[in-house]
Amino acid sequence: MSPFQLTRTLPDDATGAALRADVLHGLTHTPKELPPKWFYDARGSELFDEITRLPEYYPTRAEREILIERASEIATATGARTLVELGSGSSEKTRHLLAALSGPVAYVPVDVSESALRGAATSLLAWRPELQVHALVADFTRGLALPGTPGPRLVAFLGGTIGNLLPAERALFLRSVRELLGPDDALLLGTDLVKDEEVLVRAYDDTAGVTAEFNRNVLRVIARELDADVDPEDFAHVALWDREREWIEMRLRARSALTVKIPELNLVVPFEEGEEVRTEVSAKFRREGVRAELADAGLTLAEWWTDRAGAFALSLARPTA
Ligand code: AVJ
Repeated sequence: MSPFQLTRTLPDDATGAALRADVLHGLTHTPKELPPKWFYDARGSELFDEITRLPEYYPTRAEREILIERASEIATATGARTLVELGSGSSEKTRHLLAALSGPVAYVPVDVSESALRGAATSLLAWRPELQVHALVADFTRGLALPGTPGPRLVAFLGGTIGNLLPAERALFLRSVRELLGPDDALLLGTDLVKDEEVLVRAYDDTAGVTAEFNRNVLRVIARELDADVDPEDFAHVALWDREREWIEMRLRARSALTVKIPELNLVVPFEEGEEVRTEVSAKFRREGVRAELADAGLTLAEWWTDRAGAFALSLARPTA
């Protein structure tokens, strides 16, 4: 069998249809909002990679530190023969885990981006030619059907991306992950932690302006894919900390009164000067909150590891017996 297989669970135009539905809903909603998943076209994915190397953006380095420190413990604790990675992107941090797992190992990266999956698989197979890679083009927030690779399975959801989901969405998501797991399987979850407000806001408003470009990229995607009449430069980048809900919000603020037109959606969207559209929520967590959310989904927190600075956590959880 070839070491690389790819399964598409998204119909060919599912992405376009979902984008249209999200834009139509989000720009007619009060307050205006757009979901963060539309940042990640080829340019957006490159900008995100650049963000992960910024001095202000600590989560990637903190999570990598934990993975390097704990990889062999994770391998021993789980005995995993299959690593499923949700929202795998470039699979950069995955190597630390894969390197620690022993025996013939299958890797199941799941992402909405087929190009990201192909790129990641090519570079992983150059590194470890015996790896079985079964890529899934899928939206991991919907029900997933996993390939029949050997167990135990370790399902990893890294980077703190769970923070992009609102609390109700997180509950649904964690339940759907719980459904994927057999009694010997486990979940490895990365969460960014509540910390000093300045540190948090700087991570989402860097001095080089990379995050601002990343934020405006969602408008570039909409302009290109939906032939929308919108100039990303008409919007300023905003990052703020919501201390009640303990999340970072990114917004785009209209620099003047303007109109966004999307003829194919029959949409004309007026913005007042200073009006904002929310483009991302990035929730930050505490151990007790993570434990409780996992428990509500039928998962028991088994391990909680942080980096030395206590900025970020990796949780290992198992189905509640
Ligand atoms: C990839 C979702 C974890 O929320 O920190 C980075 C995305 N947004 N800078 C995050 C992001 C702005 C990132 N995640």
